[in-house]
Amino acid sequence: MIDIKNEYYRYTSLDLNKLEDVVKNYSAPCYVYSKTTITESFNVLQSNLPSKFSVFYAQKSNPNPDILKQIRELGAGCDTASLGEMKSALNAGFTADKIMLTGPAKSKEEIRFAVDNNLLSVNVESVQELELIDKISRDAGMVQDILIRINPPYDSSETTRIIGGTGVSKFGIDIEQIGDFFFSLKNKKNVSLKGIHIFNSSQILDGNKIFANTKNVIDTAIELSGKYSFDVKKIDLGGGFGIPYAADESPLDVVLLGNKLNDLIESKGYKSFLEGVTLIYEPGRYLSGRASIYLVKILYTKTSRGRKILLTDGGIHHMLRPALIGQSHPAINLTALFEGRKNNGNYMVAGPLCTSLDTFGENIELAESKPGDIIAFMNAGAYGYTESMPLFLSHPAAKEIFIQ
Ligand SMILES: Cc1ncc(COP(=O)(O)O)c(C=O)c1O
Repeated sequence: MIDIKNEYYRYTSLDLNKLEDVVKNYSAPCYVYSKTTITESFNVLQSNLPSKFSVFYAQKSNPNPDILKQIRELGAGCDTASLGEMKSALNAGFTADKIMLTGPAKSKEEIRFAVDNNLLSVNVESVQELELIDKISRDAGMVQDILIRINPPYDSSETTRIIGGTGVSKFGIDIEQIGDFFFSLKNKKNVSLKGIHIFNSSQILDGNKIFANTKNVIDTAIELSGKYSFDVKKIDLGGGFGIPYAADESPLDVVLLGNKLNDLIESKGYKSFLEGVTLIYEPGRYLSGRASIYLVKILYTKTSRGRKILLTDGGIHHMLRPALIGQSHPAINLTALFEGRKNNGNYMVAGPLCTSLDTFGENIELAESKPGDIIAFMNAGAYGYTESMPLFLSHPAAKEIFIQ
């Protein structure tokens, strides 16, 4: 048995030794999951963030029903963004008071479902949406709790555009227009404002940036509650906890973040305001990202104008992220690893789809590779399968397998 766990630990805590059988029995592209990793990642957050912070899993990062169930059992709530996600959350056993609905263009049907099920909160992203939620609630004879999602003038500096940072945004209401929201809220009897929601940066690896953003959001809540005289009960800070995808990226220091947050919420000025307030993080990537690898088989090798190319059976119909974000996922040639093949090569790795977008990376470092080898793309658990394009070319769906 080769001890290969530590070398790749930052990208996956799957015990790669346990994959030997999966590799031997490989029949088609598949995602391999580790529940252990999800538990480990959840525990890192739980044990380092002050207990005032609740964790709501952003289901969009990976809606696999077994993962949802496991995260629910760990004690998290669920952030949802569609009718399908709300239903999946309920099916996984999340109770309505642990489910929130956020999203920039919610349909009537989605709002009605949230109201009928009395979800913990609907996070409102425009004045028109506020009016619709109030009407739907009134028709249902309910009062729906809401948070106002704000587009603030600060962010945590995304390095790749995912949520979008500051500036023009389809998310939330610009802070400059917040007066319109409170004006409209005045005559609304069927919604109850419980606080604010601000999230505009994903994949942040610097704990200081997440801390600074958290402080900014709390400051915004303090300012708005004073200016518009409303009681803040919840502050939703969204997701954004990053994971390294490359050798030159360091893992997020959650211990440092936790310590700084603790000092902040215990400090004068914040402690009294935050009494009775729940602070919520909605991590997606941090919980699900390292929990899966995506396996493909090399069908052919070729060179084109001097570039070595590996052509695989799986492609961006199963894992679009590298093409979408322009960032390769760390990869290993598992067959070469188990056979002890050492020589490294530099490859373009591309899938079977009839578009040159279907490329996992132009310069992927792998052991010397040949047809029949199985390649694992690590960090594939978040925004991997769920954010892909499975209908293109009508290939079969990827299997999803849990091994530990
Ligand atoms: C409202 C909301 N919350 C949480 C998340 C999760 O973000 P991350 O995966 O960066 O933690 C997202 C991601 O898009 C989101 O839109």
